[in-house]
Amino acid sequence: MKIPIVYFSSSGNTEYIAQLISEGLKFANFETELIPFNSLEEKSLDFNTFKAFGIGAPVYAMSLTPNIRDWVKKIPRVNRKIKFFLFDTNAGFPGPSIKNIRKILEQKNFEFIGAIEIVVPTRDSVFDTNLFKYVKWSRRNIERSFQFGIILGKIIRMGKGVLDWSLTPLPFSRVIGAYFKVLERPFYNIFSRLFGFNSEKCIKCKTCEKECPTKAINFQERPIINHNRCMFCFRCMRNCPTNALFLKLLPKAIYFKGPKNIRGYISPDQLLEEYKKRV
Ligand SMILES: Cc1cc2nc3c(=O)[nH]c(=O)nc-3n(C[C@H](O)[C@H](O)[C@H](O)COP(=O)(O)O)c2cc1C
Repeated sequence: MKIPIVYFSSSGNTEYIAQLISEGLKFANFETELIPFNSLEEKSLDFNTFKAFGIGAPVYAMSLTPNIRDWVKKIPRVNRKIKFFLFDTNAGFPGPSIKNIRKILEQKNFEFIGAIEIVVPTRDSVFDTNLFKYVKWSRRNIERSFQFGIILGKIIRMGKGVLDWSLTPLPFSRVIGAYFKVLERPFYNIFSRLFGFNSEKCIKCKTCEKECPTKAINFQERPIINHNRCMFCFRCMRNCPTNALFLKLLPKAIYFKGPKNIRGYISPDQLLEEYKKRV
């Protein structure tokens, strides 16, 4: 039976970790299905039929991204213990992200079997900067993500055990996290007003509308942004083929092109091959 791994990723870091975990599970002889958040609507997930599943997202404002949180809240209660694991990528301040999502799922009768949080070398990972040539993926983090998948496989097979590799929260992170919870919506609301639009460059391809994970963009001759939905993930601007959509403060910004472009990146299937050769 396939293990579904649902994830959201704007710049690719969380997708990378999802792939590494998936390869680890494959090494443990499980089949997996990676499900990006934007393709969730086409799927009808029946949680009662799963043996186990995973959820991953970036940390935004010391919480997993609002789209993933809202989706998790809508997951129906299950009638038997279904195992789940969580993962996130962050810039070093994840706060109580994992704990909060874990709590919601446990209240719906799901059984927690593990979590991993990875601090990425590119921090906020929004804009490409020259400094990125000095940073490097940590081999340890890459292997840990892969091994997390292997150990999860063992836990799923044995039917018991927990592997909690979430980060130890910094002092006061619960309090700060609680403040962020109140402040995040007003913040996003204000920041999303910094979007600029150049109608001469726009080719009306509606990529911005399609890429938006919160349905905050309605394209009518131009993108109309719902400031109460935007979560400032930059997917619209990053994917706009003509840069018609841009950030007013940084109109010439170049967006980070993903984890592959950072030194030390190891492709997930290459790592799987390396591990297969070791045994
Ligand atoms: C709007 C925004 C808010 C963020 N807030 C936090 C945060 O509170 N704590 C943290 O550690 N990282 C934060 N980050 C950094 C991201 O979690 C990190 O870059 C992540 O790897 C991005 O994942 P992705 O590449 O899958 O989109 C934030 C990034 C953005 C764009």
